[in-house]
Parts: sequence; C-alpha cells; structure tokens
Amino acid sequence: MKRLSNKTCVVTGAARGIGRAIATSFHNEGAVVIVTDIDEAMGAATAAEIGCRFERVDVREEADWSRLAGIVPVADVVVNNAGVTGFEAGLVPHDPEHASLADWREVHRVNLDGTFLGCRYAIGAMKGAGTGSIINISSRSGLVGIPGAAAYASSKAAIRNHSKTVALYCAQQGWQIRCNSIHPAAILTSIWEPMLGSGPGRNGKMRALVADTPLKRFGMPDEVAAIAVTLASDEATYVTGTEVNIDGGLLAGSAASPG
Ligand SMILES: NC(=O)c1ccc[n+]([C@@H]2O[C@H](COP(=O)([O-])OP(=O)(O)OC[C@H]3O[C@@H](n4cnc5c(N)ncnc54)[C@H](O)[C@@H]3O)[C@@H](O)[C@H]2O)c1
Repeated sequence: MKRLSNKTCVVTGAARGIGRAIATSFHNEGAVVIVTDIDEAMGAATAAEIGCRFERVDVREEADWSRLAGIVPVADVVVNNAGVTGFEAGLVPHDPEHASLADWREVHRVNLDGTFLGCRYAIGAMKGAGTGSIINISSRSGLVGIPGAAAYASSKAAIRNHSKTVALYCAQQGWQIRCNSIHPAAILTSIWEPMLGSGPGRNGKMRALVADTPLKRFGMPDEVAAIAVTLASDEATYVTGTEVNIDGGLLAGSAASPG
C-alpha cells in the first residue's frame, strides 16, 4: 500500500534540490504531484523525469497563486519549499550592520511572502474536504541566529511561527488541516554553491561547514523528503503545529558544550 495514494500534492521550488526530492518521493508513494518552480525550463524537465505535471509559480506573485488555484483548485498536500539565501547572485553583505534594505526585503519576499501565499492557497484548496497537510520548509537558521545571513534567518524564523498560526487557525475552524515546519541544516544542494565555490578550497570548506555537526556529514535531499512523506501521509493525522529538525544532531547540543 503506497503511503500517499491518490493525494494531490503541490510542491514549490521543486525543479531541483530538496523540492525535487520531495516531489519524487511523493510520486513514488502514489501521489498526483504538481511540480512548481520559477525556473520553467528546469521545472518542466524535472517534472518530465518524474512523470508528473509542471506549473510555473513564482511564489512571490499573488497572480501566480491565483492562476494555480484556477488550475489546481483542490489539493491534499502543499509543500512550501521554494527559498533563497540572498547569495544566489554573489556573496553580498547580509549581516545586520551592512545588509541593504532591498536585499533584506527580497529574501523575505521569496521565503516569507511566498510561504504566506502558499499557506493561503493551501487553505483554500483544502477547506472543501476539511483535511490536508501543509508542510513549510524552514531551516535550522529559523531557530538560531546567523550573523552573516540576517534576512535568511529572520524569514525562516517567521516561517516557523506562521506555521503554528496556520495550524491553530485551521483547527479553530474545525478542519483537520495540519500545518508543520521542517528545519533542515546543511543538506547538500545547489544552495551551498556560492559559499563553497569550485576552487581548491572546496573540500576544506565542506568539512568546515559540518565540523560541528555530530554526524560529521551533509544531509541528503532524500533524507528530508522522507520526513515530508510522513508529515504528508495519514500516519501523521495527529501532528500539527509542530516542527521537525533534520540536522545530523546539530541542535541537540552546542559546539561550546564540554566534551
Ligand atoms: N540545502 C540546505 O542545506 C537547506 C537547509 C535548510 C533549509 N533549506 C531550505 O530548503 C528549501 C530548498 O532549498 P534547496 O537547498 O533545495 O535549494 P535550491 O537552491 O537547490 O532550490 C531552490 C529552488 O527554489 C526555486 N525558487 C527560487 N526562487 C523562487 C521563487 N520566487 N518562486 C518559485 N521558486 C523559486 C529555485 O528555482 C530552485 O529550484 C529552501 O527553502 C531552503 O531555504 C535548505
């Protein structure tokens, strides 16, 4: 018995990385998957490889969500995964002293406005049946401060809080519509490329990034997808308003704790 049989699942930012892995796992578990992304070429290619449908959705744009609501008016699972660090075009300052207001706002537009609009779409697409699962991809950075990535950390913290608000609101309406957040840390995807670079220092940088991670390695997108499958499935029907960390043990302790 497949775990997501006949469930209609929308995944944002699913052209690559974690979103792609989630869309693939959902498809393998019997779901009807709609891959969405701002990148039309890569999104369409990914959907073709998975064997599912693609719709272009820029999560920042209300009009794109309205269009999706017209095409996919009913959904069982929505994963708000699309996200940016702000470093996509290069390593600009994102610390609290030097970050520009424009850069701060742009990261929040994608990560936070995109998640708000995605949750709003999801509620509309689920309330008819009165059941469903909304999964918001936050981050470890939403739970701790990140001096060099202030907007990213702030937007991911807001996603965590908004997930709880959505969970409580849906419960208040008498719906079995659940909303939870997933908090990955150091998952090996393209999001790390601007930080790693392609030079001779790449391997050293990779080792340094996971030096404080108890499992001493990056996580893989499939490992995040496995958690998303459980939250999407009817195995998790009593799980709402909570958060799942997937971080190789990083948040279990502190780098400064005694050995
Ligand atoms: N990789 C990690 O270590 C890690 C850790 C914590 C959280 N996350 C979060 O996981 C999510 C996926 O990250 P990833 O590592 O797969 O990154 P990625 O860069 O590989 O993929 C992000 C995807 O989002 C899409 N996207 C960007 N802006 C968009 C927009 N406006 N509308 C629609 N799609 C858009 C991109 O085209 C891309 O396909 C993000 O929210 C990220 O913050 C990742």
